[in-house]
Amino acid sequence: MARIDTNIAHAAYLLRSGELVAIPTETVYGLAANALNETAVSKIFAVKNRPSFNPLIVHCQSIEQASQYAHLTDHRIFELAAEFWPGPLTLLVKRKESIPDIVTAGQPFVGIRIPNHPLTLDLLSAIDFPLAAPSANPFGYISPTTPEHVLEQLGDKIPYILNGGWCEVGVESSILSFAHDTPTIVRFGGVPVEDIERIIGKIERISHHTSITPLSPGQLASHYAPQKKLILGDIDKLRKLYKNENYTLITFSKKYLDIPPQKMFVLSEKGDLHEAAHNIFKVLREADKTDSTLILAEPVPDEGLGNAINDRLKRASA
Ligand code: TXA
Ligand code: MG
Repeated sequence: MARIDTNIAHAAYLLRSGELVAIPTETVYGLAANALNETAVSKIFAVKNRPSFNPLIVHCQSIEQASQYAHLTDHRIFELAAEFWPGPLTLLVKRKESIPDIVTAGQPFVGIRIPNHPLTLDLLSAIDFPLAAPSANPFGYISPTTPEHVLEQLGDKIPYILNGGWCEVGVESSILSFAHDTPTIVRFGGVPVEDIERIIGKIERISHHTSITPLSPGQLASHYAPQKKLILGDIDKLRKLYKNENYTLITFSKKYLDIPPQKMFVLSEKGDLHEAAHNIFKVLREADKTDSTLILAEPVPDEGLGNAINDRLKRASA
């Protein structure tokens, strides 16, 4: 069973030895391996049950380190890095040959970010290689935002979970692709699109997560999904429609007092999108554990971090 602790030297030792370590980031917990060690990286795919054509984000400690693995030529990359790194923004940029094919799934681009968590930044300084890390959940399930979430699902498959507490941001990084002249947001995440555009001007948006090469549309649509059926819509209408069902509610800010408290989840009573993002994956997991058969949820305001929250809710309902 994995140990949950804060020993950076031990985590560094395991990673150097080609083992996997779950690491805290400001977004979600990652399942990390030495990005330069193909055997170690292949363990990530096995443990997560993740298709091998799905590339991994490379976590670096500095732009200098990132430039060893990617061609950082576009000035906009530096402008974004200066503003948002360390932080929840992943840039898809032209790779160098120094990064193994298994990490990028053979693609010409590599996803790079500097995560903003003190323990993981210390860990990255203690090792001389970058870390390949997807979210530390079984493929398709809800991303983990506490060490206990990781333990529950992957605890018997990995040796160590570095304990960084409950992830501050709570949704994964925004992913911005530099594959075309106009950068394209391929996943809404912890840095709102509006904030990116404030720095580099208009970018393209795609609502579907098409950053994975040929996948069936169904697989793309359903992700971050609880086991229970989740239906997204206007709560009052849904409650009428499903009045005979045993359901759990997830709302943005409103509490329904006639619902038993263990089946009533409010993302942010004060209507704050940061708080809602911080809570969303924990709430989805807890809603998945009640004795109800159905989860009814409503979208949050579609602005700022709301784009990322609504994207996760949509895919949880697909
Ligand atoms: O916040 C995050 O980004 C977290 C933490 C651990 O850093 N990581 C994360 O990784 O969410 P993952 O693997 O669960 O999601 C990353 C997404 C995947 O859908 C993958 O297909 C896409 O990014 N991606 C990664 N590298 C890519 C590449 N080279 N080209 C296209 N898509 C890529
Ligand atoms: Mg993931």
